[in-house]
Amino acid sequence: MTTTITICDTCKRPDWADRGIEKTDGEALAELIEQAALGVKGVKTRRHSCLMGCGKGCNLAIQSPGKLTYVMGDFAAQTDSAEGVVEYALAHHASETGQVPFRAWPAAVKGHFVSRLPVLEPDTE
Ligand code: FES
Repeated sequence: MTTTITICDTCKRPDWADRGIEKTDGEALAELIEQAALGVKGVKTRRHSCLMGCGKGCNLAIQSPGKLTYVMGDFAAQTDSAEGVVEYALAHHASETGQVPFRAWPAAVKGHFVSRLPVLEPDTE
């Protein structure tokens, strides 16, 4: 199963208004992640407007059916962040459960985890 990186494209960092730019930080980060994920087998990206973590933007989620979901935040739109997120997503893809050992975490994602969600089992009723 593919691992999907869902990137909030409406996130704005606290200094966004001061920078006088039109593009949101989320859009800028999404572009960098999309570029970093180009040609990476097993990882795809999508954008979503607001993941409801607005105070800690930029936010994203790493998901795959049947695996743990990870929500991350407080990213700036930087190439090293984007590359680290894609590297983490690739490790999530390679993992049977979605759990990635700490020793395999790219430096760029450390300190950015917001939550981990367990697999949602299908209804049996
Ligand atoms: S605007 Fe990105 S989480 Fe709300």
